[in-house]
Amino acid sequence: MKNIYFCLLLFFSLSCHTKSAAHDQSAIKDLQNKISHIYQPGFGDIMSIIQIHHAKLWFAAVQHNWALANFEIGEIKEGIEDIEQYKKEEHGDYVAAMKMIDEPIDKVAKAIEQKNDSAFHKNYILLTNTCNTCHQATGHAFIQIKVPDYSPAINQEFSPMPKQ
Ligand code: HEC
Repeated sequence: MKNIYFCLLLFFSLSCHTKSAAHDQSAIKDLQNKISHIYQPGFGDIMSIIQIHHAKLWFAAVQHNWALANFEIGEIKEGIEDIEQYKKEEHGDYVAAMKMIDEPIDKVAKAIEQKNDSAFHKNYILLTNTCNTCHQATGHAFIQIKVPDYSPAINQEFSPMPKQ
């Protein structure tokens, strides 16, 4: 008799378990479905944001707003890191080529830290050329980045804060 109870208990607990496993499976599927429908910026979208920071970086440094310049190079770095983190699966080949931009970014950051005009100019050109080298390497030679003629942000002050 005891054995029958035990078997019944085992049967019910197993069937419950399969039921909850099936429920888990469908919950996971549901989540996966939801995640795949969440809007995610594309590779080119993140690049377009980097482009704005690249332009702002120029006007900040030209006007010796080194704090802003430092902020902008940090934003470029973050954009690159986002691409490396989120676009690896979709565009592994592009992401592998991305490494070439690390050194120019570091050199620009160093020039900003030293508030060194000529080092900034030299390495800003290096950075810009590297953007284009990568565009060429990834079959996008038609995307040509240059030193900006005008600020992309007409509503932002680039000169440093007046000293209090
Ligand atoms: C992997 C190497 C790589 C590097 C480094 C790189 N890019 Fe790109 N960039 C790409 C690729 C690939 C695309 C095309 C993405 C797509 O197919 O949507 C692109 C697209 C762009 C676009 C979009 C073009 C448009 O008109 O919509 C801009 C703007 C851009 N990049 C700016 C830059 C700037 C500025 C830098 C340097 C600070 C840079 N990129 C560095 C690979 C790179």
